[in-house]
Amino acid sequence: MLNLAILISGRGSNMENIVKSIKKNKIPVNPVVVISNKSDAKGLEIAKKLGVKTEIIESNGLKGGNWEYDSKLVAALEKYKVTPQNGLVCLAGFMRIMSPEFIKYYKGRILNIHPAILPSFPGLHSQKQALDYGVKYTGCTVHFVDEGIDTGPIILQSIVKVKDNDTEESLSKRILKQEHKIYPKAVKMFAKGKIKISGRKTVTS
Ligand code: GRF
Repeated sequence: MLNLAILISGRGSNMENIVKSIKKNKIPVNPVVVISNKSDAKGLEIAKKLGVKTEIIESNGLKGGNWEYDSKLVAALEKYKVTPQNGLVCLAGFMRIMSPEFIKYYKGRILNIHPAILPSFPGLHSQKQALDYGVKYTGCTVHFVDEGIDTGPIILQSIVKVKDNDTEESLSKRILKQEHKIYPKAVKMFAKGKIKISGRKTVTS
């Protein structure tokens, strides 16, 4: 069975939702570890309550995209048998850029959720970017992680209508609901071998 690691930095609602969905819908995935780069990440307690092992690998000022940090991640992931053969790494609010070495190691096995319809509004504060731009629709995207920032092949997207009176908070809340729908769905599709990467695209069967 696929061994899943979920990487978080904070609240962990996507992580919680993925783990619960795996159990509820009998998705053939084993959530073996939740790793945080912050010791005070709220999601760590949630993971423990759900019976998932946790690890803290503090990033302590180490810049993102750095192999010095990511090699520690790989060591932890290997300890939990999250391998390039049978592993899946889900980034869920993990506030670090992955190094090229890490991406190469787990090629085609790293997913991320982004709170906008990519390629619009990559990077940080996507909900605010969408509001400031004045778009009428935004949403969220599950995609493979490649060397760019939020540029990897797209797996699933969900649209959210922007209301005239939306604040960053109200919009983020509605987007998050959609995130919770599409991320477990993408994990299930991956686990069942239904996603093929073809250049910039994914083809699903
Ligand atoms: C989500 O909005 C996700 O799209 C973004 O970071 C946030 C993480 O939230 N990448 P949570 O920790 O899953 O609650």
